[in-house]
Amino acid sequence: MPDYRVGFTSCETEHDDVELPVEGSLPGWLSGALLRNGPGKFEAGDSESHERPADTDDASFEHWFDGLAMLRRFAFPGDGTVRYSNRFLRTEEYRAVVDDGGLDAGQFGTGAAGSLLERLRATLLPEATDNTNVNVTLAGDSFLALTEAPERVAFDPETLETQGSWAFDDERSGHLACAHPVVDPDSGATFNLHVRFGRRPTYVVTKRAAGETAREVVARVRFSDAVYVHSFALTPEHVVVAACPLYVDVWGLLRPGGPSSFLDALDWRPDRPARFVVVSRDTGEVVAAPTAPAFFTFHHANAFRRGDSLVVDLVAFEDASVLGDLSLSALRAGSVTTLAGDLRRYRVPLDGDTASPGRATFQTLATGGLSLPRFDERRRGRPSRYVYATRTGDAEAAPNHPARVDCWRRETAVWREPGTFCGEPVFVPRPGGGEGDGVVLSVVLDPEREQSFLLVLDGETFAERARAWLPHVLPFDFHGQFYPDAALRTARGRP
Ligand SMILES: [Fe+2]
Repeated sequence: MPDYRVGFTSCETEHDDVELPVEGSLPGWLSGALLRNGPGKFEAGDSESHERPADTDDASFEHWFDGLAMLRRFAFPGDGTVRYSNRFLRTEEYRAVVDDGGLDAGQFGTGAAGSLLERLRATLLPEATDNTNVNVTLAGDSFLALTEAPERVAFDPETLETQGSWAFDDERSGHLACAHPVVDPDSGATFNLHVRFGRRPTYVVTKRAAGETAREVVARVRFSDAVYVHSFALTPEHVVVAACPLYVDVWGLLRPGGPSSFLDALDWRPDRPARFVVVSRDTGEVVAAPTAPAFFTFHHANAFRRGDSLVVDLVAFEDASVLGDLSLSALRAGSVTTLAGDLRRYRVPLDGDTASPGRATFQTLATGGLSLPRFDERRRGRPSRYVYATRTGDAEAAPNHPARVDCWRRETAVWREPGTFCGEPVFVPRPGGGEGDGVVLSVVLDPEREQSFLLVLDGETFAERARAWLPHVLPFDFHGQFYPDAALRTARGRP
């Protein structure tokens, strides 16, 4: 297999708004910017002396999820060109790692003094790492970098310059925040999920109106035990969360000598069921909580109502071992195909109650090692046809490639180029076009050439329209969002 490990080595260079050479042609309507977030550096100190692929050592992060946040920007001025920038967030964590050569706050899979866990132990207050490397969102007129700790860092969407720590205009706090806020396509409101640990862990669903920077509480859901939740789904009536039996050992975290990282505090309990918690957006009540045999998910795709049930699409793993498989030592040892789930469609009955909660059942929409599902956000909460994801199905020929699952026909279209590895595919609709009419953007690594490129696929044929070569290797990232020009202008206070 080609050596994908080059994608887990530190990025040494920042580029500022360089025009990329384009092979093929970009559609004339494509105007705006794809903003992406992910790790860019995996070792403490100035890493120029590190050879790649680097081995982990005491001064290295231990988990892919923990690398230093680096923003990526692909701007489409609308004239057939694409311009590229990448820039590290200048956070406290960045200064501690790069300038001081140490690891500051503990993160997902990397323990350290003064860590999230130690702060949890000490105070149960929301202080944590500001290494916000997972996703981006728009709040009011601020672009924010997000992680699962309740810290947000604002940045300029044109220059990617760090603007500093950012806080909501409310007093709400939590210990963890979901890095996948969801925008309701009808109202433009943003929903999110926050977790407060304690004697009875509380999952707080919040809603922030379009353009606002204060949140209101939609629901408070109390659990007897804390489970790890990475994302959720939204319909016009409901918020739905697949609560998998991956428990957070909160009391262990509070105990001296307890788990040394958040990852170590997670306990997979396959003897217990998964549960679909369905919350009414109107009343804040849990209206159904059917169970299903244990599975693990990071990412929900779409969900919508069908009769007396919800249809909930998600990428499911048999168990939570994928979390350990994403440690840097495992990834660098060669187990990249572990990021491989099935796209399942769960039928979640709404007619049970807490005493008799009902059973959720599923059909498999697609196999072949799927991850990082996306869909046309305009269809959120309504029946939708396509899910875009990464796929590992043909490991030897094309180790990790973009795929489009047709949920109606149960067919999977793929784009493959031997030896390459792709990141999360993001669908960008053609203005005024129907579902599927647009382009799919994905960053692809060619390890042999030691270069990444932005791949532009035609949304309908799933054939390559264009590629734009980057001046370097871009480390594998997590999530990104496409913002049309209007959103970018608003953020800069321009009409
Ligand atoms: Fe995610």
